[in-house]
This record gives sequence, C-alpha cells and structure tokens, in this order.
Amino acid sequence: MFLIKLGGSIITDKAKKYAFKEEIMDRLSSEIKKADKEIILVHGAGSFGHILAKQHSLNQGYKDDTQLQGFSDTHAMVQQLNSLVLASLHNQDIAAVSIPPHAILQLDDHKPSKMDYNIFKEYLNKGFTPVTFGDVVLDKTLGFSICSGDLLMQLLAEYFNPEKVLFVLDEDGIYTSNPKTDKNAEFIEKATIYELEDLTTSADDHADVTKGMQGKIETIKNISRLGIDTILLNGNINNRLYDTLVGRKTKNTFVHGEKR
Ligand code: IPE
Repeated sequence: MFLIKLGGSIITDKAKKYAFKEEIMDRLSSEIKKADKEIILVHGAGSFGHILAKQHSLNQGYKDDTQLQGFSDTHAMVQQLNSLVLASLHNQDIAAVSIPPHAILQLDDHKPSKMDYNIFKEYLNKGFTPVTFGDVVLDKTLGFSICSGDLLMQLLAEYFNPEKVLFVLDEDGIYTSNPKTDKNAEFIEKATIYELEDLTTSADDHADVTKGMQGKIETIKNISRLGIDTILLNGNINNRLYDTLVGRKTKNTFVHGEKR
C-alpha cells in the first residue's frame, strides 16, 4: 500500500482564499489511476483551511464563543475542498471514500489521543481508496485544535506500514536551504534521517517557508524511524507521481527508512 499526501500548496493556491487547482488535481488523479496501486490518500487544506484557521486562532484552542462559527466555517471549507478532490478522483473511476478526521479522531494538546483506524482498514480491504485531510478536530485539553495532514500521515504510516510514503509538493523535493530565497540551495536526491538531522539546524534561520518544511522534516524523520521509505516529489511536473508510484527513475528526494 502507498500512503500519499497531496500538499495544500499543490492542490490550492495558498495565497488566494478557496482557489482550487483543478487542472493539477485532475492530472494527479489520472496518474494515480494509471499507476493502479492500493492507496490511502491524505490532502492538505491549503487556502481552504489555513486562512480561516489563522483568523480565528483555532490551533490555539478554545478561547471564546466567537471561535465556534470560525471552527464550523473552517470545517465546511476543508470539507468542500475534500468534495472537489473526491469528484476529481471519481471522474477517473477511482472508488474514493471520504473519511473526515473530526469524526474519527481526537487530539489531546495537539497530540493524538483517539483514532479509528478500523474504518480505513475496512474500506481498504473492500477495494476502496480512503481519502482523509487536514481538519479542525476536538482536543481534550484545548477544546479544539487542528489536525494536519502531516500528522495523519505519521499516524497512518505507523498503523499500516505502507510500502512507501509519498509527499506531493510544489517543489522537486528537499533542498539544503529554501530554494525560493537561496540560489545556492542544493537539491537532495537521497538522504538518511541522520543527514536530515543536520538539515533542521541549518534551516533554522529561514522564517516561514522552512518552518513549514521543518515541520515536514520532523514528520519524515518519525516515519523513517519506523523503517519506511519516504519520497518527496513535485506534483506540478507531468508523471512525476506516476513514475514514482511505478518505481521508474524520476526527479525526487528519497529518504531511506531506518529503524532505530
Ligand atoms: C491544515 O492541514 C488543516 C487546517 C488548516 C484546517 P495541512 O497542514 O495538512 O494543510 P497544508 O498541506 O499545509 O495546506
């Protein structure tokens, strides 16, 4: 089984509220169909989630009742994005089924506390493609908070031990520094978790983008420690996802899984 995350920046325009990149999503759906693999799909929230979530400080937990509408609106919008993703998959005759995190998992101070894995397992065993996504969720200590697609990737990797974990990004993979701001950034074709360890320290002085990337590197380290290989690839380029899924050589970053 392959566990794939379509990042919010590849399926939406992160700078524009509710901007779905339909053409890219449709091509990625057709690549998934063509590869014909067993898959659990996770997608990010992009501009359907982050803007509203920030506006209402949802990740900081419950402060006052004015946030409740913000929580509902954010959930409605990520669910809407999820419907667009599902429609694209259905157009390719992929039997995709939505599993909304807020209904099957609970956090406790941002950490996983309860999760229904069985629902994923049952759909998978029946031949469906389960699709889940970054969502607002209940949080035991904070009242509510946000469950990112990356956290879902970690939890599902731990439980299902997939053949490979794939992150579909709007960049070719991992660089030694932020390629959008540093022209000396070097592309990393292959890495071990030990090499990623060093990368985190060198990524510290870059603010926003690397912060997102740094979080992702933490997630990848945790997945690598399970002994599972992770591949990061660019979803903007034709067939990178397909080639990666079928094991053909293409440009991407391969992080070798090593049990510690
Ligand atoms: C965020 O999910 C969820 C919400 C803001 C509600 P992700 O963190 O997985 O989304 P992307 O991939 O960064 O857009």
